[in-house]
Amino acid sequence: MNPAPNLVLVGPMGSGKSSIGRRLAERFGLAFFDADREIEAQAGASIATIFECAGEADFRAREQVVLAGLLAGEGAVIATGGGAVLDARTRQLLRERGFVVHLHVDVEQQLARLARDRSRPLLAGDDRENVLRRLAEVRDPLYDDIADLRFDTAAMGAADTAAKLGHLL
Ligand code: S3P
Repeated sequence: MNPAPNLVLVGPMGSGKSSIGRRLAERFGLAFFDADREIEAQAGASIATIFECAGEADFRAREQVVLAGLLAGEGAVIATGGGAVLDARTRQLLRERGFVVHLHVDVEQQLARLARDRSRPLLAGDDRENVLRRLAEVRDPLYDDIADLRFDTAAMGAADTAAKLGHLL
C-alpha cells in the first residue's frame, strides 16, 4: 500500500464508504473509523439531531475536528462523510495524511441504495434526486481533486468492491 499513514475513503452518500472501509480494514488488519459515528459519539447525539438542534455549520465544525483527530493517527482506514471535502483545510489534511480513494457512484444508484434511509438530514425533503445531483456537481470535482484513486462502485456490492479494491492497493 502507499506509504501515506491512513487509507481514506471519500465520496457521496450511498457510495459504500463505511461498509467497504470496514471490509478493507479487516483485510489489511487495520483499525477502522467512521467519521460520522465518531462525531455522534463525541456529541452524544445523532447526526440528525445535531443538524436539527445546532445546524449544519455546527455539524461541519465537529466534522473538521473529528477528522483532524483521526488523521493525526496512523494505520487506519477512515470513512469520511460525504461533505467532509467541503472544507479546504480538511482537504489538505486528507491529502497529506491519507491515501485517498474516491468511491464514485451515480445518482440513480445512490437513490436506489438510500431508498429506505431516513438518517440523512440532507435527504429529508421530497426531491432527493435533485439534491443529490446538485451535491454531485459541487463535490465530485473536490473528491477527484484530492483522490489518489477513483473507483466506480456502481455495479457491485460492498464485498466485491472491497475485494477488488483490496487487490489494487
Ligand atoms: C453528509 C453525509 C453523511 C453525513 C451527513 C452529511 C453530506 O455521511 O456526514 O449526513 O453532507 O453528504 P455519509 O456520506 O456517510 O452518508
